[in-house]
Amino acid sequence: MVNSARLVTVPLASSPAVVARTWRNPSTSAVLRVKWALILLGMLPLLRLVVGFFTNQLGANPIELITRSTGTWTLVGLAATLSITPLRRLLNWPWLVRLRRTAGLLAFFYVCMHFMTYIWFDRFFDVQDIIKDVIKRPFITVGFAAFLLFIPLAVTSNNAIIKKLGAKLWQRIHYLVYVIAILGVVHYWWLVKKDLTQPIIYACVFAVLFALRIMWKLKSTK
Ligand code: HEM
Repeated sequence: MVNSARLVTVPLASSPAVVARTWRNPSTSAVLRVKWALILLGMLPLLRLVVGFFTNQLGANPIELITRSTGTWTLVGLAATLSITPLRRLLNWPWLVRLRRTAGLLAFFYVCMHFMTYIWFDRFFDVQDIIKDVIKRPFITVGFAAFLLFIPLAVTSNNAIIKKLGAKLWQRIHYLVYVIAILGVVHYWWLVKKDLTQPIIYACVFAVLFALRIMWKLKSTK
């Protein structure tokens, strides 16, 4: 005989409740797949630049395009990294936190490409010229400061170092990401000559992400 009570409690594989539960608590291998998808997605802008470079499709000024593209993807990577905690809370998907390091390292990868493009193709590794430029042009000074602050974050992004530093010190170091985001927007704002739409959009995105954190912090200390 069929047990009717059991039939009622076993949900259909595709029922909204099951889908919601699966998204809230996916398997380790599913999270790993999402992580790899994020890495592949994060490599697409680089692939576009490499293909464009070798097929002569980067326009009249390829170096400018590469500098702009890598700068833009650094900011997008930063915004994605800072979106993870709010999304985790709003969607109640705790596993999202496991993508934060990958997103942050993708942002770091693009800032390295951005910086390399500058020192290689713009300044031809002329150290004196680079130092002069960093001192002379405020938007370069700010970008350079953001790049330097990025380094400790990348260096401390592995489990062995987190263990060595302790969670509290690690957390403090990683607060630098907020300073980097602000400096990144200031850098962009400063270099734009006419249309400020893009830097304003990034400033608003970061402002919302910061405001959510401040709001939650205030709520938790009440
Ligand atoms: C977190 C660090 C940084 C971020 C987020 C960032 C972001 C950006 C963005 C968004 C752009 C403009 C893209 C566009 O025009 O569409 C840009 C341009 C540029 N950045 Fe950065 N950047 C950073 C660090 C640096 C550093 C370290 C340098 C060099 C020392 C640098 C040099 C430049 C240059 C030369 C341009 C092109 C300016 C122009 O087109 O006139 N940036 N950056």
